Amino acid sequence: MSSVRKVTEDLYWVGVNDKRLHLFENIHPIPDGVSYNSYLLMDKKHVLFDTVDWSGCREFLKNVEEVLNGQDLDYLVINHMEPDHAASMEEVLLRYPNCKVISNERAFMLMHQFGFHVEDRRQEVKEGDTVSFGKHKVTFVSAPMVHWPEAMVTFDTTDGILFSADAFGSFKSLDGKLFADEVNFDRDWIDEARRYFTNIVGKYGPFVQFLLGKAATVPIKMFCPLHGPVWRTDLGYYIDKHDKWSKYIPEEKGVMIVYASMYGNTEAAAQALASTLCDKGMTNVKVYDISNTHVSYLVADAFKYSHIVLASVTYNLEIYPPMFEFLHHLKTLNFQKRTFGIIENGSWAIKSGTLMREYIETELKECLVLNAQVSVNSAADETNEPEMQALADSLIESIQK
Ligand code: FEO
Repeated sequence: MSSVRKVTEDLYWVGVNDKRLHLFENIHPIPDGVSYNSYLLMDKKHVLFDTVDWSGCREFLKNVEEVLNGQDLDYLVINHMEPDHAASMEEVLLRYPNCKVISNERAFMLMHQFGFHVEDRRQEVKEGDTVSFGKHKVTFVSAPMVHWPEAMVTFDTTDGILFSADAFGSFKSLDGKLFADEVNFDRDWIDEARRYFTNIVGKYGPFVQFLLGKAATVPIKMFCPLHGPVWRTDLGYYIDKHDKWSKYIPEEKGVMIVYASMYGNTEAAAQALASTLCDKGMTNVKVYDISNTHVSYLVADAFKYSHIVLASVTYNLEIYPPMFEFLHHLKTLNFQKRTFGIIENGSWAIKSGTLMREYIETELKECLVLNAQVSVNSAADETNEPEMQALADSLIESIQK
C-alpha cells in the first residue's frame, strides 16, 4: 500500500506530502502543507527525476521500491539541488549502487558542498544535451535562478512532459489529487500558488521570462513540477499567471490596504478608506493588519493587486517596523510597476508618510505614489474627510486609467 499515482502509462509520481512542516524554508507558513514531487519513469531504463525532502525519505523510498518491483534503478536526474528535493539522493544511491546521477556541472558542485559524494557515478549534461532511456528521449534545458543557479528542467520529447523543477509549482499538499484538473485550482489553489511563486521565485522574474520563452518553442503537454499538482490540461491558464507574476504585472485592478496600527486609530482610518472606496463603487478592496499577517501573504497580494495603500503610524520617528519589513521584502523581491497611496499617523512629529514615500520612490522600480495623502494626528476626525475623499478619488481615477 502506498500513495503512488500513475502520471502516464509508464511514469509514476513517487513523491510525498508534508503536513508537519510549519515554515517552508523555515520562513513561510504553510498551513495547508506542501508536496515534494518525484517522478519515476519505467522505460527500458528506470529513471528517477529528483528526490524529496529528508523528512519524507522513508515513504518516498517505499514508493520507489513499489514501482520498481524488484528491478534496479538506472538513473537519478537531479534538476534542482535544493535540499527539499535533493536531500534523499544519498539514500537512493546507497540503495541502488548501479544508479548513475545525471545533472549539470553547477549541481555537481553543490552536491559536493552539501556533502553528497557522487564522483564515480556522475553523468554531466549541459544545455541541449539529449539522452535516450528507451522509448523516451529527453533534452536538458538550463533554468538558472528558477530558483537557484544550477536549476535545470528536463523535457521528455516523446510524451511532451516538462519536468519543470520549481517552476509551475505551488504550496499545499496534494492529498491524493495529483492533477490540477482534479481540484478547483482557481478557487482553492491559486492563492497558495501565487504565495509560493512570489515569495520563492518572485525576485527572479527576468529568469522566469527567459524560461517561459524557451518553453514556448517546444510542444509541452504536461508540467511535472517539484511542488503542487501536475498540469495536463489548461496549461495556458497557469502560463499566463506566471507570465504576469514574472513581469510584475498585476492580475487585478483593485486596492490592497495594509495598515500598521498600535491602538486602532490607524486601523480606523484604513477601514474608513475601504468604506469610502466601496461607497464610490470600487469594491475590489482587501484590508490587512500588518501586525497579524505574515509578510508572505502581503507579498502575494501585492503581486495580485494594481494599487496598494500603506497606512502606518510613526514609530521612533521611523516607519513602523513591520511596515518597513514589508517594504524591504518588496524591494528584495524586485517588486515593481504599482501605484501606492499613503495614510500616515503620528501624535507628534509625523514622519511615516514622508519616509514611506521616499522608500517607494527611491527603492522600488517603476512605482508611483499618489499625491493625495491622508495625515492623521492621533485619530482621524472630520477634518480628515476631504483628504480621505481625495485619496479615494485619486485611487479610483488611477485604476480607471
Ligand atoms: Fe523547492 Fe528551490 O526548491
